[in-house]
Amino acid sequence: MSKGYFITFEGGDGSGKSTQIKRLQESLEKKGYRVLLTREPGGTQISEKIREIILDSGNTEMSDMTETLLYAAARAQVVQQVIKPAVERGDIVICDRFVDSSMAYQAYGRGLGDAVWDINQYAVDGCLPDLTILLRLDPQKGMDRIKDREQDRIELSSSEFHRKVYEGYLALEERFPERIKGVDASQGIEEIAAQIDAIVGELIR
Ligand code: TYD
Repeated sequence: MSKGYFITFEGGDGSGKSTQIKRLQESLEKKGYRVLLTREPGGTQISEKIREIILDSGNTEMSDMTETLLYAAARAQVVQQVIKPAVERGDIVICDRFVDSSMAYQAYGRGLGDAVWDINQYAVDGCLPDLTILLRLDPQKGMDRIKDREQDRIELSSSEFHRKVYEGYLALEERFPERIKGVDASQGIEEIAAQIDAIVGELIR
């Protein structure tokens, strides 16, 4: 049975995920692989609607648990509707953020701890990434990179929050060393892309 791969990208805001995802997609397609790109929160009509609620900077009264459950709800939908069917077809699915974002932002950043992991077991329904690329960048540098664009509700959180998110990512990398591969995102675009190519090559060769 031909089965594809599920690869996710993680990192703080401004770590350069979108650029590197595009580069990886091009590189894999050149080699003849079928690539499906998706993102979180989003990737389906329902999940995009949930995204609007979560990121609306007017929703200042949203509780941390509501936020966690909404991310999980958006995730459950994209897993069933998009990710699982594509991997079963044999595609390489690249997802911009996934469950590790909830761990970094809600478990560590908001301080909700392992409850976030438990909730997400229902959402992912056994569909965990084969590989996760973590773009490691000092959160202050990340926030400086995006300071000129309009910021959503999460990006508007304090620098203390973004520091905790970053530390959360480092803890996750230690907890799941087989799956999560960190790359130094302060390097140039070409160097980062080459390192990611090599890591992905190990998985799919
Ligand atoms: P993203 O789409 O990556 O933002 P942008 O396109 O502006 O870079 O993600 C939106 C925000 O949601 C981002 O600040 C991270 C946050 N997030 C969580 O807090 N938990 C989650 O589970 C996910 C998927 C994202």
